[in-house]
Amino acid sequence: MILVTGGAGFIGANFILDWLATSDEPVVNLDKLTYAGNPENLAALAHDARYVFVEGDIADRALVDALFARHQPRALAHFAAESHVDRSIHGPGEFIRTNVEGTFTLLEAARAWWSALPQTEKAAFRFHHVSTDEVYGSLAPEAAPFTETHPYAPNSPYSASKAASDHLARAWFHTYGLPVTISNCSNNYGPFHFPEKLIPLVILNALADKPLPIYGDGQQVRDWLYVRDHCAAIRRILAAGQPGETYNVGGGGEMSNLALVKAICALLDTFKPRADGLSYARQITHVADRPGHDRRYAIDARKIERELDWQPLETFQSGIEKTVRWYLEHADWVEHAQSGAYREWMTQQYGKTHD
Ligand code: NAD
Ligand code: DAU
Repeated sequence: MILVTGGAGFIGANFILDWLATSDEPVVNLDKLTYAGNPENLAALAHDARYVFVEGDIADRALVDALFARHQPRALAHFAAESHVDRSIHGPGEFIRTNVEGTFTLLEAARAWWSALPQTEKAAFRFHHVSTDEVYGSLAPEAAPFTETHPYAPNSPYSASKAASDHLARAWFHTYGLPVTISNCSNNYGPFHFPEKLIPLVILNALADKPLPIYGDGQQVRDWLYVRDHCAAIRRILAAGQPGETYNVGGGGEMSNLALVKAICALLDTFKPRADGLSYARQITHVADRPGHDRRYAIDARKIERELDWQPLETFQSGIEKTVRWYLEHADWVEHAQSGAYREWMTQQYGKTHD
């Protein structure tokens, strides 16, 4: 079986659903269920004997040791993290605790478990660490996309904490020989994306006739990747990635935030026109910029394409159409995701309730 951390979150849930749709190998999901962990994402697996859920903290060494001993995973896919840049600006402490100390705890527990394995199992074991393109910092408009050897220059508490965890993962390979692989991925989008992030926020605010908040001038560029393409990349790395290697994963879908929001508005104008016949784009509102906002990210994914034969299957247009339709068709999920801590966060970030 494989052990997944953070599987109740956006990417982890997509990963587990796709894993069990393409293989019969069981999954144990260790997730603390923070505000971002939503067990409803995995409701389809409620009666599936191949899926085991464990509520707990990756920084709890005794718990992680017990999970290794009990389930004897042949691999670990580590998604658990505090993931939202804006939250890291308001409160960086939890990012250091989970992303740095939590990853350290997992590496140490994995090392203790792995060290005692027989030689063949030891060689086959994998610790895959899921990271982000944000560790590389901000790119100039004409600069070449990030390769795996681009220098690290994180600019937010979130990206600094992810950079620290990447360095730990790398060191555990070089010092102890733990078979670690790392992936640095661009912005994901798709089903189960928590509505604090730009794409789901814009879809849901548009439908609710609320402002579509664009930070600053909206000319910041991101490289968008459909989440299921990211999950396929991680499956390829677990199957054929080389220990000690890093793989950059991107969608080749560079776009400014303003262009992205306009594209979403255009789709909604077709799928679910406003009652007054006007475009949703009229709801676009420029708000104060994110402090330290990185201007541009772009990924050079040629290494994983060449070495592991991975390529994204979705274009930006096909992926965003699927995503918009998913949100239109999952009103219950949306309603539940918009309760509780999420609403408190909206008030803190945007200074008013969104009722
Ligand atoms: P998310 O915030 O949607 O989910 C994170 C999950 O981790 C949640 O289920 C949460 O409950 C769990 N978690 C948090 N702290 C935990 C702890 N201490 N112990 C156990 N579980 C804990 O995040 P996501 O967007 O799915 O991102 C998953 C991973 O991918 C993260 O490592 C993130 O840095 C990385 N990443 C995300 C993106 C993106 O666009 N979303 C892009 C590149 C890399
Ligand atoms: O690049 C990968 C990263 O992508 C991941 O490592 C992070 O975990 C993930 O959250 C995401 O980070 P971003 O900061 O890029 O995502 P977010 O959806 O928060 O913002 C996308 C862009 O949109 C960014 O330039 C900020 C901008 N934005 C965001 C929000 C929430 C707005 O203009 N308005 C908003 O209200």
